[in-house]
Amino acid sequence: DGEVFKYYADGEWRSSASGKSVGIVNPTTRQTQYKVQACTQEEVNKVMEAAKVAQKAWARTPLWKRAELLHKAAAILKEHKAPIAECLVKEIAKPAKDAVTEVVRSGDLISYTAEEGVRILGEGKLLVSDSFPGNERNKYCLSSKIPLGVVLAIPPFNYPVNLAVSKIGPALIAGNALVLKPPTQGAVAALHMVHCFHLAGFPKGLISCVTGKGSEIGGDTGIAISKKAGMVPLQMELGGKDACIVLEDADLDLVAANIVKGGFSYSGQRCTAVKVVLIMESVADAVVQKVNAKLAKLKVGPPEDNSDITPVVTESSANFIEGLVMDAKEKGATFCQEYRREGNLIWPLLLDHVRPDMRIAWEEPFGPVLPVIRINSAEEGIHHCNASNFGLQGCIFTKDINKAILISDAMETGTVQINSAPARGPDHFPFQGLKDSGIGSQGITNSINMMTKVKSTVINLP
Ligand code: G3P
Repeated sequence: DGEVFKYYADGEWRSSASGKSVGIVNPTTRQTQYKVQACTQEEVNKVMEAAKVAQKAWARTPLWKRAELLHKAAAILKEHKAPIAECLVKEIAKPAKDAVTEVVRSGDLISYTAEEGVRILGEGKLLVSDSFPGNERNKYCLSSKIPLGVVLAIPPFNYPVNLAVSKIGPALIAGNALVLKPPTQGAVAALHMVHCFHLAGFPKGLISCVTGKGSEIGGDTGIAISKKAGMVPLQMELGGKDACIVLEDADLDLVAANIVKGGFSYSGQRCTAVKVVLIMESVADAVVQKVNAKLAKLKVGPPEDNSDITPVVTESSANFIEGLVMDAKEKGATFCQEYRREGNLIWPLLLDHVRPDMRIAWEEPFGPVLPVIRINSAEEGIHHCNASNFGLQGCIFTKDINKAILISDAMETGTVQINSAPARGPDHFPFQGLKDSGIGSQGITNSINMMTKVKSTVINLP
């Protein structure tokens, strides 16, 4: 009906002076579902200035009070799970049940962050000088953690709420102000989530949410905005090509279940999705058969129906996935299912006998298409995994724990899962990517630490 959702600045909902809006296309209907404000650079600058002012007072607000407000926001967010989940269904075609899970998980994440924050930020360090050569015990160093200032968060489309609060919570508990630039698809869910913080009663200007085209107000990578905020440290979660290495002694039913869950949940649109299966030749046929049987049972369709496989986020994403599939076809991969696509909806597809000359052996489809590469030794699997530019997660299936640990040590990824598919959660676990997969380590505790710097006061005795 032409309504344009307002952006959030200085504790109020505003229309942009640009008079322009950005349309959000529903991946299922491919019609414009919602519209958000196209904020101007000047409006973003103003938000940053307001955030700087609000942050000063917030940093002086007692830690327990900050935690109390976060707990309140968490509770309100959970109360609003149904309407927020509905936005996720309409904006990013997340299956209805998973959309609710994302919101509830986000509320839990905020509460856990508040609890963890009061503990780790409530503790400082005392150092004495005479441990270092040449010193007497005449200096006492008191160190504690202080906020960075203004934190800018740019979450991706696949978790517009959860990957926003995973920054908002740690930033706020640590005494920072927070500016959110949500993904265009997912922006309305994010605005609704910000509304929950508004209702909780955070000081005005402390949290803001600007919407618009990344190319105009975000810069290529968000670094343009982060520089304005004076935020030097960066924490980034980027792509992945998570390998699933399957050895001969693995529990093959467990393997098949994890390949399907890991490779096809949210239609493969997770940075932690299984993106290549590296399987010992001797067990490959059996596993491929088991996986195919499970894929045949997946429900393919609209997210409202709780389908397992739903339309991918944009038409260009679907076209990209199709490009990888066609390349694999030309180069002779075995199609375990017929390739099928309607609009943005792509049916689940397992590609067997993929070889290293195929693009899909290395590129990240971010869709329900999974390559299987047959290997003859664990070393071959490790080699393929490490030849990737990405290094997010990986997994190994074997009953031999000693072997699993050795392989884990050899894999150049931020995390290795033994006998389960890659996953970020539980949300307090460290989460990091090596190589092109990111900078810094997330997870509640690490994120709180990353959003602080150390401040020392040294007492010098005569
Ligand atoms: O792609 C986003 C990444 O954070 C994955 O999270 O919970 O699906 O493993 P999760």
